[in-house]
Amino acid sequence: MDKAKIFELLNKDLQDEHGAIIQYLNHAYGMGEGEMTCEIEAMARDEMRHLDWLAETIVELGGTPSLERGTMLMGGRSVADWMGNNVKLEEGAITQYQEHIKLIDDPKIKRLLQRILSDEEAHRGKFEHFVEKAQKKGAKDIRGSRQDKTAQTLNWGIEHEYTVILQYLLHSYMSPNEEAKEQLADQAINEMQHLGWLAEELVDGGGNPKIEHTKVDQSTKTADMLRADIKIEKEVTEVYEQAAKETEDPDLKKLLRRIRDNEIYHTEVFNDLLKEEEGK
Ligand SMILES: [Fe+2]
Ligand SMILES: [Fe+2]
Ligand SMILES: [Fe+2]
Repeated sequence: MDKAKIFELLNKDLQDEHGAIIQYLNHAYGMGEGEMTCEIEAMARDEMRHLDWLAETIVELGGTPSLERGTMLMGGRSVADWMGNNVKLEEGAITQYQEHIKLIDDPKIKRLLQRILSDEEAHRGKFEHFVEKAQKKGAKDIRGSRQDKTAQTLNWGIEHEYTVILQYLLHSYMSPNEEAKEQLADQAINEMQHLGWLAEELVDGGGNPKIEHTKVDQSTKTADMLRADIKIEKEVTEVYEQAAKETEDPDLKKLLRRIRDNEIYHTEVFNDLLKEEEGK
């Protein structure tokens, strides 16, 4: 099989992992604290590891990881509906990995896909169990509907955080600079925390997180990547600062300032990396 075909198959898998992560996070945030939520978050983390392995494999072979989001099943209004969607999503993943394992000859990639497949089979079992559990509790509509200024600010933050998560991950995968690679991956994880904090705040207040992103910078040189990353950090720092000033909710103010301080730190880290990169 030629490389282009391998990239196509692995990127399809990667896109679907991306879709699964967002679908499960959406459910976890929407359901609020609890045992089931913890387990769903753990499965979302499994999917993040899958995404990471697939992206690294693609980069090692000289390809570019796709940023497109694959299949998602976001309908339904109750936990039982959602868990049913997750069973279907895992079934789709299982069939696809089985097909790709057959198609790909490279033993290392085959082994990796087999490894991921075993996780997906375990996930399917867990979600089947969750459907039963949720059905016992009844089909309550748990979607929030708050649309005021605070909800808009939080959804804006979620959109921003999701965008930089993808951007820093892509930059981390594509940069040959080892230090930049490591820092970008680290800060992407910090942005995932921000996304979680904002989504939880929104759901606690009766809102409904929309996990969508805006344009992701796709520079190919490390210095260009860092310039784009610094620019977006500076912009968002100002927005968070302004939003913190405007809100009268003291807890929200504290949260927005905490995130803002993290963003300032990111700008400084990226600035140092850029100086070193420019000095080369
Ligand atoms: Fe997965
Ligand atoms: Fe899965
Ligand atoms: Fe952030």
